[in-house]
Amino acid sequence: MGEPAGARPKVGLIGWRGMVGAVLIERMRAEGDFALIEPEFFSTTQAGRPAPDVGSGHGTLGNGYDLEALARCDILVSCQGGDYTGKMHPQLRAAGWDGHWIDAASALRMNDAAVIVLDPVNRHVIDAGLAAGCRDWIGGNCTVSLMLMAFGGLFRAGLVEWMTTMTYQAASGAGAQQMRELLAQMGVLHASARGLLDDPASAILDIDRRARAAFDDAMPTAAIGQPLAGSLLPWVDRDLGNGYSREEWKAGAEGNKILGLSGDPVPIDGLCVRVGAMRCHSQAVTIKLRRPATLTALEQVMAGLHPWLRIIPNEVEATLACLTPAAVTGTLDIAVGRIRHLAMGEDYLTAFTVGDQLLWGAAEPLRRMLRILIGR
Ligand code: HSE
Repeated sequence: MGEPAGARPKVGLIGWRGMVGAVLIERMRAEGDFALIEPEFFSTTQAGRPAPDVGSGHGTLGNGYDLEALARCDILVSCQGGDYTGKMHPQLRAAGWDGHWIDAASALRMNDAAVIVLDPVNRHVIDAGLAAGCRDWIGGNCTVSLMLMAFGGLFRAGLVEWMTTMTYQAASGAGAQQMRELLAQMGVLHASARGLLDDPASAILDIDRRARAAFDDAMPTAAIGQPLAGSLLPWVDRDLGNGYSREEWKAGAEGNKILGLSGDPVPIDGLCVRVGAMRCHSQAVTIKLRRPATLTALEQVMAGLHPWLRIIPNEVEATLACLTPAAVTGTLDIAVGRIRHLAMGEDYLTAFTVGDQLLWGAAEPLRRMLRILIGR
């Protein structure tokens, strides 16, 4: 990056107060990343106020719209969102800034000049990008990243002819307000039937009638738009007008780009569903294998991809203890279980996976890309 050997790169952080940004800072603290960089915190609303202390005292928040201050950074990491990216990234590049831009937003993801980063799966694509002078490193869609963290080994081994993925996506993917509202909705449901719940002799259909009435009248829905507690929403993200939600389109488009297969894509398709989990996305997949394979061999291929993969035995106790959002939340584990052949033949595999949407689904690939860039 041009700095003298031993100098710490100057890294500007924008959008560190939001949910993904806060998880990123938490992870950077935990991994000692701040000791390796010269951090500068920017804000689009609070410039001049004290910046967080990440080990070397309080600095001052820079102005997130100050092009010159931003351009003094070797690396910028943005979790500020797509509007900010759309506004500032072109201006910085037009002004000749040739630093590295690491971004959680989707705005630049499908640009030819950008690499979608998920290094345990696509370090080869990242290295090729580095060699070619790439400067834009974008985090993938959470659902796609988590799917590839689970099954990337099968793709790498050339075993996947096609794949369907049916998702069970947590409220966190929609945003912080939606997480809060989900809990509020749960509270309303409980409150609607509390008196009857306290009475062991009450009739279940009376309890259900109360809950049903709460769906119609009492639930807060300003953020989510519909009752999610006690229900589910089989549509995630925008309507593309061709039967697909944008989230469903991303599976094939982003998935193949991450894998470096856009020229000869593997069909990856399915339905995306929001459920009342807090921050873990789950997915049930069907994989058509290019050739029949034993479960032991397939599990070995999956588990060999990276150290965070946890194969959960296809047994009731292990599944219910380890293959749930409640078990995985807040960890870097990628749990994969319910692994078995389907009745269609030994070249059909089904499996279920759970991963934390804010960790491997969002913050962790960005943090690791920063480490790759600073060479540590
Ligand atoms: N679009 C995803 C979701 C989140 O709504 O769950 C982030 O990629």
